[in-house]
Amino acid sequence: MTDNVKRLQELNAQAEMGGGEARIKRQHDAGKYTARERIDLLLDPGTFVELDKLKTHRCADFGMEKKKIPGDGVVTGYGKVDGRTVYVFSQDFTVFGGSLSGAYAEKICKIMDLATKVGAPVIGLNDSGGARIQEGVQSLAGYADIFHQNVRASGVVPQLSAILGPCAGGAVYSPAITDFIFMVQDTSYMFITGPEVVKTVTSQEVTKQELGGARIHSEKSGVSHFECATEDECIARVRELLSFLPSNNAEDPPFVPTDDDVNRRDAKLNDIVPANPSKPYDMTEIIGAVVDDGYFFEVQAEYARNIVIGFARLGGHSVGIVGNQPNALAGCLDIDASLKAARFVRFCDSFNIPIITLVDVPGFLPGVDQEYGGIIKHGAKLLYAYSEATVPLITLITRKAYGGAYDVMASKHIGADINLAYPTAEIAVMGPAGAIDIVFRNELAEADDAVAKKDELVEEYRKTFANPFKAAELGYIDEIIDPIDTRPRLIGSLEMLQNKRIDSLPKKHGNIPL
Ligand code: COA
Repeated sequence: MTDNVKRLQELNAQAEMGGGEARIKRQHDAGKYTARERIDLLLDPGTFVELDKLKTHRCADFGMEKKKIPGDGVVTGYGKVDGRTVYVFSQDFTVFGGSLSGAYAEKICKIMDLATKVGAPVIGLNDSGGARIQEGVQSLAGYADIFHQNVRASGVVPQLSAILGPCAGGAVYSPAITDFIFMVQDTSYMFITGPEVVKTVTSQEVTKQELGGARIHSEKSGVSHFECATEDECIARVRELLSFLPSNNAEDPPFVPTDDDVNRRDAKLNDIVPANPSKPYDMTEIIGAVVDDGYFFEVQAEYARNIVIGFARLGGHSVGIVGNQPNALAGCLDIDASLKAARFVRFCDSFNIPIITLVDVPGFLPGVDQEYGGIIKHGAKLLYAYSEATVPLITLITRKAYGGAYDVMASKHIGADINLAYPTAEIAVMGPAGAIDIVFRNELAEADDAVAKKDELVEEYRKTFANPFKAAELGYIDEIIDPIDTRPRLIGSLEMLQNKRIDSLPKKHGNIPL
């Protein structure tokens, strides 16, 4: 064996041992996999090709020149998921706490640059103590280089972030720019400033999990899209999400042949929307009855439950679904729901995924909190997102479509291609009781029996507006369908729209109300 071969073997072995046995044990004892074990779980067996395995940091301060580990705390390279190429970086907490040096950032930027050039997704497995303190501004520069690459890649290739340990300070902004964040209960957390700083500045005492754990970010802040019980579940869901997505913005999503009959009519659909318009129901039941094999891959299931978003397939084609959820806040649009849906619509549009919108919306949520919180600008984001979308847009009104929310929820007027309605649809400026109170205030005040008069007027309003016929007469609804035909109609529309092309006016970019 030549000296060089021997040296290479030693260096490879060192790189593979990361921070050494004791730290690997600590990692396992904390319920976490190592960076390399995670890559093995993520990629198809035997497909990983590592780059920069021997790269080290260049820091000579604080005795760092004597502490060099090949790879420098992040494992980077490429491999396959379900036979398609992806790029991956996996932060190694056993090496300097997975903290980011200039060299480490260069490794990440290198694979992001390659991924963007060749059009393949980037998956980041995050587990890091943040900026490498010994490197100071070099480390901060490294973060900024990564953020810049994230933004360049945004809308070109899917970018997914799994948070599998700490992710704090500036480190949060790379995942935040990526398309989807996955978190693991108990072992992962994300925050800008940790509990100690929070206590010093605000006197509030919180734990890391209370401040930035998977539950908080999945339910409260909406930062995370998937809350997973274990790392195994997390990585399995990353793989599954990829199955719905194209590798880049120039491709269509993968077609997955199905045995589920495209003409399947489901009698159950006749009974899901209750006859009583005030009675809630679960929009995911309609989704489940319609999509291939009843399978809906829900995104942000725990956040802003008044709107449902996620991926499914119809006749083998990947679709994004947005649906008002009458089971939560009666399906009203509020700030959180608008933000949740707007970002999802823009993601689908970036990656050629047609959008199916299921509408049952009584309007925007009234309230001082909503107004002070800026529902005007946040609601406008959803309107903007739908209006700029060029993918096929198919809308089905199942029940209420009231007021400005009717316009916003992918109405014909803002660019939807096919607008369908159930016979139970009610399309009007507002609900009957509110409308009568406003329009007939004086008549009701003067009536001998105000209650009877109001009932009579409400009934008249219902007959005139609380149905889909006016909108169908005007061509705003293309077809009023029998609910049992939902699946064949949606698939038919999707296939008809397959070659949709829209030329947008040239501009640098629009000015979405952020
Ligand atoms: N820079 C350099 N080394 C770091 C580091 C950083 N930012 N964060 C952690 N490390 C090192 C530790 O020195 C320790 O090294 P050792 O194994 O040689 O002893 C190792 O990583 C593990 O850290 P430790 O603190 O023992 O792990 P923990 O699980 O108890 O705590 C953190 C993890 C992330 C909460 C804690 O390390 C921390 O607060 N780090 C600093 C976070 C920060 O403020 N980063 C800057 C924000 S941009």
